[in-house]
Amino acid sequence: MKEQIKQIEENALQEIKSAKDLKELNDQRVKYLGKKGELTVVLRGMGSLSPEERPVIGSLVNQVRDELEKEIQGKEAELKREELNHKLQTETIDVTEPSKKIEIGSVHPVTSINKEIEDIFIGLGYEVADGPEVELAIYNFDKLNTPEDHPARDSQDTFYITDDIVLRSQTSPVQARVMESKKPPIRIICPGAVYRSDSVDSTHSPVFHQIEGLVIDKNITMADLKGTLEVFAKKCLGENTKIRFRPHHFPFTEPSAEVDVSCFVCGGKGCKTCKGEGWIELLGCGMVHPNVLRNCGIDPEEYSGFAFGCGAERIAMAKYGIDDMRLLFENDVRFLKQF
Ligand code: DAH
Repeated sequence: MKEQIKQIEENALQEIKSAKDLKELNDQRVKYLGKKGELTVVLRGMGSLSPEERPVIGSLVNQVRDELEKEIQGKEAELKREELNHKLQTETIDVTEPSKKIEIGSVHPVTSINKEIEDIFIGLGYEVADGPEVELAIYNFDKLNTPEDHPARDSQDTFYITDDIVLRSQTSPVQARVMESKKPPIRIICPGAVYRSDSVDSTHSPVFHQIEGLVIDKNITMADLKGTLEVFAKKCLGENTKIRFRPHHFPFTEPSAEVDVSCFVCGGKGCKTCKGEGWIELLGCGMVHPNVLRNCGIDPEEYSGFAFGCGAERIAMAKYGIDDMRLLFENDVRFLKQF
């Protein structure tokens, strides 16, 4: 039996030494030391030995097992080291290799117009205000002097979530929310997305962006409105820009007006951009209707104010010479990169 153990020891040592990888080494561990391994089988067979032989053989087997275990551990460490070295050599990173190009986007023209207009008004002492796009009909309409039977509330014009909740069709409800939550003086500008159930064409989209302005204080007059919009138009579209007011109607302002700017491409002579008119429509505005002030808890005997609202896409299209609104929503990188 001693002979047999010696033979096992010799074979095992040789095989362990020549194991090429961790898997092979593990196979050998199982082959010699596992439950059905060669050395274990010898231990099991000790029952047939004489009582004198048993301890001798037992301790020999244990000795060989300890030796093999140590040998396997050593070999394992060696194989792991080799594997790591191999990995380090084969998986080195070539830092000189040109990297994949990361495409960096550009600021969307509507975003940059918004930013530009915000900056102009922040410079005039306005704050930027925000409101929900899913809005109560009360704020989108009623408080803005647009009662239940007003045509602007037609379900064909507006997306209704329920009878009382709409996707806001204008940024004007932010006015009402701010007036309710703040005491005058109020000077705000509110940019944001608005929704209307319009079909898509070169000048319409069911979602677009507006920028709303509101000033409420004592003794605010139409002269303040005109002066403010003139500064705005010159800063946004160029110092030579002229503005003109045309009478109009909005439920939430009285009097109301639409404002045109002299064409900043031809200077007013008439060209493609202004469609030969010399003027480009810019925004709607007016003096805040006393009913609106009252609806929002402000005394119209004490305070007055003006408001205006314009479409960001319209300004971007005029300013950058874009002739189709769809280009602003399609997000074609070749188009967007130009701005
Ligand atoms: N809310 C109007 C619209 O969507 C734009 C507008 C006009 C806003 C006059 C105003 C305003 O605040 O005073 O057509």
